[in-house]
Amino acid sequence: MVGDRFVIEGGHRLEGVVRISGAKNAALPAIAAALLTSDDCILEDVPDIEDVAVMSEVLRRLGATVEWLGQGRVRINAARIHTLAAPSELVVRNRASFVVMGPLLGRFGEAACCPPGGDVIGERPLDVHLAGFRALGATISRFEDKYRAQAPRLQGTRIFLDYPSVLGTENILLAACMAHGRTVVCNAAAEPEVSFLAGMLNSMGARITGAGSNIIEIEGVPELHGTTTTVIPDRIEAGTFACAAAISCGEVVLENVVPRHLDALIWKLREAGAVIEVGERTLQVRPSRDLQGVTVQALPYPGFATDLQSVFGALLTQAHGMSIIHERVYDNRLLYVGELRKMGANVVVAGQTAIINGPTSLAGAAVRALDIRSGAAVVLAGLAAHGVTDVGDVYHLDRGYEHFAEKLQGLGAHIRRVSSKAQLTSPTR
Ligand code: EPU
Repeated sequence: MVGDRFVIEGGHRLEGVVRISGAKNAALPAIAAALLTSDDCILEDVPDIEDVAVMSEVLRRLGATVEWLGQGRVRINAARIHTLAAPSELVVRNRASFVVMGPLLGRFGEAACCPPGGDVIGERPLDVHLAGFRALGATISRFEDKYRAQAPRLQGTRIFLDYPSVLGTENILLAACMAHGRTVVCNAAAEPEVSFLAGMLNSMGARITGAGSNIIEIEGVPELHGTTTTVIPDRIEAGTFACAAAISCGEVVLENVVPRHLDALIWKLREAGAVIEVGERTLQVRPSRDLQGVTVQALPYPGFATDLQSVFGALLTQAHGMSIIHERVYDNRLLYVGELRKMGANVVVAGQTAIINGPTSLAGAAVRALDIRSGAAVVLAGLAAHGVTDVGDVYHLDRGYEHFAEKLQGLGAHIRRVSSKAQLTSPTR
């Protein structure tokens, strides 16, 4: 809820087992992919988060049915699409809604959508998406507040992406599945969520190869059919809980993870001195005191994920010596540092670089979630701080983390949600 806060009493070690949910950034394009067929598509392990609710509503407003069957199972049917224009008042609520453009254009030859919303973390242009549609033969025009893409039948071609945009690559894959002939996408994003989407599309009859590398080939097919697909585990949620365990000197087992999706984080955590045990589908973080400062660069996959930069930054406030974070993906993703400073962190920012000197003894303070991942960073800082941390605007966290406070409570954190209407009370487990 807008206006809700988390109240955290710091200083309690996290202990226990937490199950990682299905990935937000895999579920959102997967929901859009169901627009490519008139058959039922069933998605499993869909996280119950605000961004998924918004995406589901976007599809409903286009004419699809989206039913929650319980336990993360969602059935989508797009047999009766009655408009090809996405509702602007929903699209402005997150970035991923723009990914309905690709499937609508691919299946119906037309799509309209306004520029999407999403976190305020820097420039987030759409040139990669639009250049991809144009290369496939679509005409792009502006209609009211929307971009409109039109093409009687898309034509496969060779496309070079100026930047390996994740949603840009996904939008092009979705559009190109039913194009005439072969499409080759060069400088494609290699994120696991792209590979997952390609796998789902292949299970619907698409012919995509190379996903997970930076060259993806799509052999167009005349039509796609329904599927049942399980959403991959959320590597960003997993990384967040790994950093939460480490910052609290705790001992936590993460279940339902794909460890190789977290290679960069595991590497950096170990370099800092954290003790991490990797299982087939689990990750165990053991108590590790005396962490050492490290240098990290946030980059496209398989580089260190920008979405984990802030929680790792929070952890590095507890490491000995100097740490340096270079944010290379977004041009304004170090704003959370201002919130950490309110808690006593010793961090300076120069351009896209944060320099952290530690360890600092953090003190509870009134801070805000500025976006999904900055919110997670201040919650983690609150777990390690002395006294009570009051985190405002936690609706940002609701967009991307399933039952965040409840999962932390399950590990022993003293965190509680205070509704905007309720009186502030002391935290309980
Ligand atoms: N960019 C362009 N042109 C474009 C699109 C993007 O230059 O047409 C640039 C942006 O300016 C930015 C960079 O590319 O500097 C990264 O943007 P990208 O398009 O790759 O990001 P995205 O696809 O919009 C997804 C995730 C983000 C995650 C990024 C990078 C979803 C729904 N969102 O966004 O997730 O940070 O990839 O990994 O998949 C989050 O979950 O908190 C989140 C922000």
